[in-house]
Amino acid sequence: MGIRVGLLGCGHVGSAVARMVRDHAEEVSIRAGTKVEIARVAVRNLSKERDVDLPPDVFTHEPHEVVRDPDIDVVVEVIGGIEPARSLILEALGQRKPVVTANKELLSTLGRELFEAAEKEGVDLLYEASVGGGIPLVRPLKQGLAGERIVKLMGIVNGTTNYVLTRMAEDALSLQDAVAEAQALGYAERDPTADIEGFDAAAKAAILAMIAFDTQVVAGDVYREGIAGISAQDIQYAKQLGYVVKLLAIAETQDGDVSVRVHPAMVPADHPLATVRHSFNAVVVEGQRVGSVMLYGRGAGGDPTATSVVGDLVEAVHNLREGTASHAPVTYQPRRIKPIDEIFSQYYILLSVDDRPGVLAAIAAAFADHQVSIKSVWQEGHGEEAQLVMITHRAGERELQACVHALRSLDPVRSVASVLRVEAEER
Ligand SMILES: NC(=O)c1ccc[n+]([C@@H]2O[C@H](COP(=O)([O-])OP(=O)(O)OC[C@H]3O[C@@H](n4cnc5c(N)ncnc54)[C@H](OP(=O)(O)O)[C@@H]3O)[C@@H](O)[C@H]2O)c1
Repeated sequence: MGIRVGLLGCGHVGSAVARMVRDHAEEVSIRAGTKVEIARVAVRNLSKERDVDLPPDVFTHEPHEVVRDPDIDVVVEVIGGIEPARSLILEALGQRKPVVTANKELLSTLGRELFEAAEKEGVDLLYEASVGGGIPLVRPLKQGLAGERIVKLMGIVNGTTNYVLTRMAEDALSLQDAVAEAQALGYAERDPTADIEGFDAAAKAAILAMIAFDTQVVAGDVYREGIAGISAQDIQYAKQLGYVVKLLAIAETQDGDVSVRVHPAMVPADHPLATVRHSFNAVVVEGQRVGSVMLYGRGAGGDPTATSVVGDLVEAVHNLREGTASHAPVTYQPRRIKPIDEIFSQYYILLSVDDRPGVLAAIAAAFADHQVSIKSVWQEGHGEEAQLVMITHRAGERELQACVHALRSLDPVRSVASVLRVEAEER
């Protein structure tokens, strides 16, 4: 008789899921082992026109009705946000119905409650689409690398900011113009704050860290800086120095502790992540034995994201028929989340300074006082325009911040225009 799916939400992702299940019906049914049908769809506005070929009577504005319908076997949640998504997922799991979700916001805040509910009921809660849109990331991390010890993940997980930074670097657009263009192209929301300030990337970083390090990481644990402060000058100096500026999500483990952060950083122009342009995403996974693995592709958009949702759906249907659930959702090892001031990095610092003898010596002394060693320094401009462009050797974040604080109160330093981390092996 086949499996009947309740689709909660029919927006960008939901409508693409409905189209994919119809257009790829044969492949889906062969791989799932039975016919899969979108039997009911919950939306907010019943009179909205939708690009899906489904009879009008499958639509309802009562999502709980869909979850409770005894004829619905599997639930796909693509509404987004915390509520009602959370209650709907908990209710579906409570009825032992497998759930597929794309909801990074929910999983990165209240994921543990949901995973524990899934585990208790012995049903699937699958979430491939919550990170990296169409890029398979969750399954490779959880299954392909199940025997490996992951030491670090570093990636570009937000397409909007990557588009903006690419246009700034390659076509000299200002940040404002590049954001406006991203909005016009549909990459950025009308309110781009979640992307530009790094909230979206932080949610994804939390989910990736949770999987990679088997521990509880929520979005609030992620140190976060967005790209609003990146100037054309930073991008230009990065280029001169052989780097590219990217918004990075980084999760790493050291001595059992975990550090998770999202911030702009300079990466060497020959690093694989430097070649990830426009709205594309990529994550480099470093394992103890496998070395580096890079996963690259379209991190957002209805159709790419639907491939991840439908992939999960096929797995959920397959498991449901076998009377099993995929794998323990997450095991929560107790691990300390390292605060940002315990990390080590190289840094790029741009200073506006007085153009007179002795200035460099005073600045160098401030660096030495804080145990931050300068790798290179050069002066750009003269007189009122004088700037020092500096790169440090690897230093502690705490020491670096204390050094920057000292520089701000130093007489010949007119301003600390920028401080950016440099993610590179020291060369
Ligand atoms: N878009 C992407 O590229 C992308 C990529 C990866 C993950 N995701 C995740 O996928 C999820 C969906 O994103 P989206 O872009 O498809 O969002 P969207 O276009 O805004 O669609 C949301 C859908 O949910 C429906 N909805 C909202 N509140 C509802 C309620 N209370 N009851 C019933 N239906 C309700 C809306 O109904 P109406 O249509 O009637 O308004 C709409 O169909 C989010 O968790 C998002 O983070 C999206």
